[in-house]
Amino acid sequence: MTAPGSTAPVLVPQVLDRCRALVRPALAEAVGRLHPWVGEMAAYALGWCEVGGAPAAAPGGKGVRQALAVLGARAAGAPERAGVAAAVAVELVHTFSLLHDDIMDGDASRRRRPAVWKAYGTGPAVLAGDALFALAVRTLAGEPGGPAGVRALSAALDDLVRGQADDLLFAARPWTGPRRVRPEEYRVMAEHKTGALLGCAAALGAVLGGAAPGTAAVLDRAGRHLGVAFQIVDDVLGIWGDPSVTGKPVHGDLRERKRTFPVLAALDSPAAGRLTALLETGAEPGRAAALIEEAGGRRAALAEAHRHLTAVEDALSGAPLETTAAGELRSLLDFLVRRDL
Ligand code: IPE
Ligand code: MG
Ligand code: MG
Repeated sequence: MTAPGSTAPVLVPQVLDRCRALVRPALAEAVGRLHPWVGEMAAYALGWCEVGGAPAAAPGGKGVRQALAVLGARAAGAPERAGVAAAVAVELVHTFSLLHDDIMDGDASRRRRPAVWKAYGTGPAVLAGDALFALAVRTLAGEPGGPAGVRALSAALDDLVRGQADDLLFAARPWTGPRRVRPEEYRVMAEHKTGALLGCAAALGAVLGGAAPGTAAVLDRAGRHLGVAFQIVDDVLGIWGDPSVTGKPVHGDLRERKRTFPVLAALDSPAAGRLTALLETGAEPGRAAALIEEAGGRRAALAEAHRHLTAVEDALSGAPLETTAAGELRSLLDFLVRRDL
């Protein structure tokens, strides 16, 4: 899938490397301020070390949010370094949210390693998440433009909590009938759960760089639509993706009876009855996947993801952004949703 309007042949892995290298010293300095034990859990979650503190063999995350913050600052006309504190804050919040998310979801592994709660225990993992959250706020508060930055981050966190709450509550709703989860409710949940922090990442660098509120708002909107597209693509890969590429178990979402976009779209079709019977048990996920595809769930999901990518482009083209940074931003967004579709 290609984002509409993407043109420049930017090498995204190099952009991500450059941004990670720019942000790493400040991120390491922030993590170094934590209690040593809590700091080790944070470093483990960031993929920097193994349990016990030895340097990690595993690569960490791609650093998408930190790159969005750095590129957002430059796109808004500020130097990239103006986005570093924003990048540190969003990376810390992202790490905190994954750490607590794995506890909430009962997921034992993350990025092919034991999740923090499995490696260190649930109580310590909760504490490490709290510490990362507090550190993010402290990082922003000390910056020029800090109060506006803290306001933007708190708003994103408020949405993230709303999204996580809806995600948890959806699991207890019936598949069919008037209380079923509608695709529109899913969209709101995904925007809150995933889009709010991506939007905040892109906007926060601009906020700290002193950009006009309108520019930050455009970047925020683009990140939010990206979040929904990203989440839908994640759902598609969770059902039809190659597990050796995605790192996720085959049909994990179907077995866990997750309300994913392709499933919700298929439940709005005449196949709903047959599909519900299969989904209820979580058994035979292969048959459920085939039925979802037949009912148009995959096609509807990709069309919806594409609509959100178009909205990303519409948002970005509505603001006077610095051309090179805007080109890199577009390529990064495209790279994120294209993956192995
Ligand atoms: C995680 O959502 C979103 C947040 C941490 C806010 P999911 O639970 O759907 O994502 P994965 O599959 O664990 O990464
Ligand atoms: Mg999860
Ligand atoms: Mg979750």
